[in-house]
Amino acid sequence: MCGIVGYIGTRQAQDVLISGLSKLEYRGYDSAGVAIRDGGHISVEKKAGKLANLATVLEQRPLHGTLGIGHTRWATHGLPNDTNAHPHASEDGKIVIIHNGIIENYLPLKEALLKRGHKFSSETDSEVLVHLIEEKYQQAGGDLYEAVRLALGDVRGAYGIVVTHVDHREIVAARTVSPMVMGVGEGEMFLASDVPALLPYTREMVFLHDGDMVVLHDDGFKVTDLKGNEVRREIEHIDWDAEAAEKGGYDSYMMKEIYEQPNALTNTLIGRLHDDTGQVNLDINLDPASFKRISIIACGTAFYAGMVGEYLIEQLARIPVDIDVASEYRYRNPLVSENTLAIVMSQSGETIDTLEALREAKKYGAKTLGIINAKGSSMTREVDDTLYIHAGPEIGVASTKAYTSMVSAMLMLALWLGRARGTLDETAGRKLLHSARELPRLVEAALEPERVENIRAIAEKYADSRDFLFLGRGVNSPTAYEGALKLKEISYIHAEAYAAGEMKHGPIALIDEHMPVVVIATESKLLEKTISNVQEVRARKGRVILLLSDGDTENARYGDDVIYVPRADEMVSPVVNAVALQLLSIFIAQKLGKDVDKPRNLAKAVTVE
Ligand code: M6R
Repeated sequence: MCGIVGYIGTRQAQDVLISGLSKLEYRGYDSAGVAIRDGGHISVEKKAGKLANLATVLEQRPLHGTLGIGHTRWATHGLPNDTNAHPHASEDGKIVIIHNGIIENYLPLKEALLKRGHKFSSETDSEVLVHLIEEKYQQAGGDLYEAVRLALGDVRGAYGIVVTHVDHREIVAARTVSPMVMGVGEGEMFLASDVPALLPYTREMVFLHDGDMVVLHDDGFKVTDLKGNEVRREIEHIDWDAEAAEKGGYDSYMMKEIYEQPNALTNTLIGRLHDDTGQVNLDINLDPASFKRISIIACGTAFYAGMVGEYLIEQLARIPVDIDVASEYRYRNPLVSENTLAIVMSQSGETIDTLEALREAKKYGAKTLGIINAKGSSMTREVDDTLYIHAGPEIGVASTKAYTSMVSAMLMLALWLGRARGTLDETAGRKLLHSARELPRLVEAALEPERVENIRAIAEKYADSRDFLFLGRGVNSPTAYEGALKLKEISYIHAEAYAAGEMKHGPIALIDEHMPVVVIATESKLLEKTISNVQEVRARKGRVILLLSDGDTENARYGDDVIYVPRADEMVSPVVNAVALQLLSIFIAQKLGKDVDKPRNLAKAVTVE
């Protein structure tokens, strides 16, 4: 995790670094620091806690200089305190580094460095880098780029590393696994872990690849591989609206992103579903007859979107699908062959477990497809093809719009496969395609003020509960899992989810008058059975919050409270239902006074194992 910013140019570096880091706090926020070079001196300032702590110190005692590097940390090795915060400096104070990732062999490296007389001041794995670079700098005759390159030859692990030296007006950076993008300006250059940090300054960007090194000067850059060979990287124009990366009037990124969903879904679907011809055009280079099974691999919310995908693909395209959480897939010796299509799903495209699982699948010859949001991310460069979800930057740690866009992408993929393989007839295909095209409108309806206020009132009524149960069936059992995850991560209330029919096999023991049970009972072929499960909850005095389709007055009597959602085809309903559960969670969390954008212990992109 961690966020990185670097600047060289004519502006005061401090301003660029603080502004850039403020856009990256979603990557980690337990401490922050900057190093700024002013002629013959590098000053370092770092502070535990959120970026605001550092910003306050810098307001009182500004650091002057037009070259600097900055970091916002998510701790892996060592407590989140001032000392372990980055940047880390060499013993003579001449070299400073910031690092995102994990140096896996840092212990033997540290022991060897200690033996050679180095003194460590922090408990981090990252600090070995600065001591190694200091040694290599001597060997390389004072060539900073070469020193970093040689040092990286000794390390194993993941890194986005940015280095500067008091005697050189340059920044040297490198990445393996951890993301890094470079911004190109007029007489100035930028680096960051993610695009939003650079949008106020430039739209011309270079996405660095795994194994890239780069040297930045005021007026240009040079990219090489780790062997020192020059490599060519294109400058891309990024047309994201800077406003799109800000909160835009909402009290949190998460709320803003919930409301962005009609738009995000439009972007996901646009140009891909053709009502007139009934065709799905995904613009992916995939032969639907070239694989016999599909493996879906993802983590967290993306995994639950994958569960919906599993259901949809099996229903519509009749291909066997298995689904794994990426962290398990890597180590379970999965059955993969050239006949497997491995689909990795990820908002960030950087989640290390998913990335490594992708590599595992490729090793055995699987064809690979990414369902990914972040343009230019690591996964997009390693898959055979990408079905971008185009949800736009998602800053809130709790994923919302990426989830509904991923589910919609899966729906399109299932439709496409079903039609291409002849398992979905034209009439049914056209009907479903039409329902999918309706999604932005349905979600917009789900966000109408009256509905939102009803959910807010219900949330406030139940906010003091200690536990929640979420139940759903069929294509909406993943919706229950996703609803429970949302509530857990932002409110810290314990929540569990089950396929409703499974409840009687154990979880029913938990139910008493204190247990709110959220039941997804929207229109479906299993609705009657779901209502029977609701009766079982009521018989044990559980408090039922029912999600019903508009107009279902019949079943409303079984709920202590009812959330009505727009009526939707069962196959597209997970998208609409998820929105109601997102609102329920955010209102509960807000009622409890939680910071929904920065839930404790979490980070937006989990780039460590
Ligand atoms: O970037 P990814 O989609 O690969 O992230 C996967 C999970 O880490 C992520 O979905 C996580 O579970 C979110 N906090 C959920 O809201």
